[in-house]
Amino acid sequence: MKKLKIAIILGSTRPNRNGEAVAKWVLEKAEQRTDAEFDLIDLREVDLPFLNEGIPPSQGQYEHEHTRRWSRTIAAYDGYVLVSPEYNHGTSAVLKNALDTVYKEWNNKAAGIVAYGSVKGARAVEQLRLTLAELQVATVRAQVGFALDRDFKDMKTFQPQPGHEKELDVMLDQLQAWGNALRGVRESMKEKDDAG
Ligand SMILES: Cc1cc2nc3c(=O)[nH]c(=O)nc-3n(C[C@H](O)[C@H](O)[C@H](O)COP(=O)(O)O)c2cc1C
Repeated sequence: MKKLKIAIILGSTRPNRNGEAVAKWVLEKAEQRTDAEFDLIDLREVDLPFLNEGIPPSQGQYEHEHTRRWSRTIAAYDGYVLVSPEYNHGTSAVLKNALDTVYKEWNNKAAGIVAYGSVKGARAVEQLRLTLAELQVATVRAQVGFALDRDFKDMKTFQPQPGHEKELDVMLDQLQAWGNALRGVRESMKEKDDAG
């Protein structure tokens, strides 16, 4: 079976962001696996404007090239690992905007969430799960959370406590299983569509 393609999406764009070290750690650990291919997508580089499409993204009629580019990027993956900060008990605006900007490209895919904050980004994770359900993304139960006071020296240098590697592995195992299952779902839906 073809290897799954998983995008690790870095959901923080601030200067001095902690998220960059977290996402690079996720990529480094994930790349030790042989069951999937992983790419890092940095929303700072994607540089999407706030949603400026006149037609709701669920219609898939994109006016702007930046939206079409983002559509192609997201469509190319079977699953996602969202790396999210917690801002005011939610995810970042930049990550929410990236999620909102396209629709069908996310459908029937799987995702895992890695978050960080004073309580391991727990509230951002819960918020993301609701948004992802609406995008028809199945979020796996296992999640990885880093606490600012335990996993970052002086709250800014990423030094993950032992144990997180195992958490990530469990999450990626679940993502692998659901990613494969949902590939089948997408294929059968396509067959149905093609049959009219
Ligand atoms: C605008 C803003 C709001 C924040 N709100 C929360 C919060 O509600 N809960 C929390 O645990 N941490 C909060 N923090 C702390 C962040 O979790 C912490 O700064 C983290 O490093 C942010 O991710 P980043 O450095 O990758 O941007 C907030 C930080 C910012 C900048």
